[in-house]
Amino acid sequence: MIQATEQEGRHADELTGCAVAIDGPAASGKSTVARAVADRMGYTYIDTGAMYRAVAWRASRAGLNPTEDAEAIGELASRLRFEFRDVGDDRQHLFVDGEDTEPAIRSSQVGNLSSPISAIPAVRRSLVAAQREMASRAPVVMEGRDIGTVVFPGAFLKVFLTASAEERARRRFEELVARGEDVLFEEVLADQRERDRRDMNRTISPLRKADDAVEIDTDPLSVEDVVERVIELLEDRLEERDEAGA
Ligand code: DC
Repeated sequence: MIQATEQEGRHADELTGCAVAIDGPAASGKSTVARAVADRMGYTYIDTGAMYRAVAWRASRAGLNPTEDAEAIGELASRLRFEFRDVGDDRQHLFVDGEDTEPAIRSSQVGNLSSPISAIPAVRRSLVAAQREMASRAPVVMEGRDIGTVVFPGAFLKVFLTASAEERARRRFEELVARGEDVLFEEVLADQRERDRRDMNRTISPLRKADDAVEIDTDPLSVEDVVERVIELLEDRLEERDEAGA
């Protein structure tokens, strides 16, 4: 974990709610960037995609499918208790009803299922309520698809990350191979295009850049560059706010 500097840590108790909302399509680098920004600033990192994946995982385990059992899946989601815990490795684990969901929720099968699951209105209602509750206690960096548009339209800073479909599929492919999955690049690219199409065209909370979000194209940038850019934007906003309040 990267230590927050004194200057960065100073702001941690000044902001509550959603300090930074990071949205963007699958594998645009949201998780890595959000986690690093949260570490640097001493904020809490929340991966909302993990929550949709966890509902998909539990629904699949219960033998429910999104086409026929939308109502039952909505009810299931409303009963789940979500909690992010630090377990000592490089990523926070999402526990559902006390059960660690890692690494089960990272498989490509759960990833593909989470897209139709996330289009069920009752599922979104429950998860958005849980996300708002999580941010009510501490400043958070929250990443997903609808954070700046729906979950926290009043977020202090909104960032929208993009990258070409090929670059994103390459990142996802490498992640899955590193995890030991036997996948083909073309399959990963096709699944991702399908997921993007679904996430952008669903009627409820489609993936969309908020009008006041800053868009960053990550294709030509390293992760470190993107993190620096977000921290810079945040520091500028904090300075502007401090000056306005002085
Ligand atoms: O970011 P991810 O791949 O882990 O997200 C999994 C799925 O959840 C993805 O298909 C989109 C959906 N999702 C969503 O609809 N809203 C969010 N805030 C986060 C994820």
